[in-house]
Amino acid sequence: MSAEKTEQFTWKVLHESTPGRPAPERKLRLGVLISGSGTNLQAIIDASASGELPGVEIALVISNVAQAAGIQRALNHKLPVIYLPWRKFPAGASLREMTPNEAQIAGLLQLFRVDLVVLAGWMRIFSAPFLERLTNRVINIHPALLPREGVGDIYTLSSGEQIPVFRGMHAPQMALDAGISITGSSVHYVTPIVDAGPVICQQEVAIQPGDTTDTLQERLKLVEHKLIVAAIRQLSR
Ligand code: GRF
Repeated sequence: MSAEKTEQFTWKVLHESTPGRPAPERKLRLGVLISGSGTNLQAIIDASASGELPGVEIALVISNVAQAAGIQRALNHKLPVIYLPWRKFPAGASLREMTPNEAQIAGLLQLFRVDLVVLAGWMRIFSAPFLERLTNRVINIHPALLPREGVGDIYTLSSGEQIPVFRGMHAPQMALDAGISITGSSVHYVTPIVDAGPVICQQEVAIQPGDTTDTLQERLKLVEHKLIVAAIRQLSR
């Protein structure tokens, strides 16, 4: 897709409703973006099936990884799922324009009338121009505790103890390396600054003696599965 076409993109469907909320006559339509195992996607699917998310439907699943197990989860439930090969930009590259891949996603979100984008283990960073078109319409699950307003480098636990804020994809390992005893997970709005958007909901999780990145990550995921459903339910009301 040409840069010119990218510039012309406008969000035609979503402006009919308040950001994050559906038009009264229809359900909140989710676009779930995945890159891996898709256990959070599964949690959303299961919550929908059990009636925990009335007023919500999964409109589309997109994966940037062809072998992602989450694709099969979507197919098992007959959800529309699209594999979108993603061109990776160099780490630290400043994305001042919407990329061709983002233009493709934007088109898909529009085509499938997506109201809310859920990054459920999506391992790619979006440019500011892309996110600015979707303010308060993109949420992410992050395996660490983020400050309530998103910004800042210190998090105050319920005990009053202060811990560092861990951002990026290695947050569980960073928590272990820091030698702290409590970490957690957060669901937050996605803004152009990575892992620094306002928090929707979060929960502390104890680090246990002998925890490895894998054991901690798995325990964090159990919490995330509840948090992501709670966040979507909150935004669908
Ligand atoms: C989760 O741990 C989430 O915190 C992180 O990516 C992981 C996705 O797991 N952003 P899954 O693909 O939903 O199982």
